[in-house]
Amino acid sequence: MQASMYERLGAAAGIKAIVADVVEAHMNNPVIRARFLPYRDDPENLAAVSQQLCDFLCAGSGGPETYTGRDMVETHRGMNISAEEYMAETDDIMATLAAHGIDEATRNDVLAIAYGLKGEIMRV
Ligand code: HEM
Repeated sequence: MQASMYERLGAAAGIKAIVADVVEAHMNNPVIRARFLPYRDDPENLAAVSQQLCDFLCAGSGGPETYTGRDMVETHRGMNISAEEYMAETDDIMATLAAHGIDEATRNDVLAIAYGLKGEIMRV
């Protein structure tokens, strides 16, 4: 039997490290950095959002964690996120997964999920 996506991503510790690097990549990505740089000056809020992201990924990939944040439409409503921004976000995720040694099949599974969420996040 194949390992769950949670295990393939390195479980809670692996996912936490991935989220930290994805957030760092966003801070350096010219297409979306303006959306994330304000969190640099607000470490408490950054930690809270990062924790929500961890829980979202952990729970969504089959881990025992519970996601208590808002749903994707509610979270991103009014941000008017463009297709270019969505692609930039996805690029950061894919590059970070590769840097963490996540195998190609797992990366493609994550990509499929990210693509599937587009309608709930982009221009909502
Ligand atoms: C696969 C795509 C994405 C997923 C799975 C995702 C997931 C999430 C989650 C789980 C949260 C935390 C929700 C909460 O605290 O209740 C969040 C917050 C946020 N997301 Fe996304 N997101 C995605 C794409 C994007 C994109 C493309 C942008 C902008 C370029 C973006 C900007 C933000 C911002 C600014 C917040 C913080 C909101 C706040 O502080 O209230 N997200 N996202």
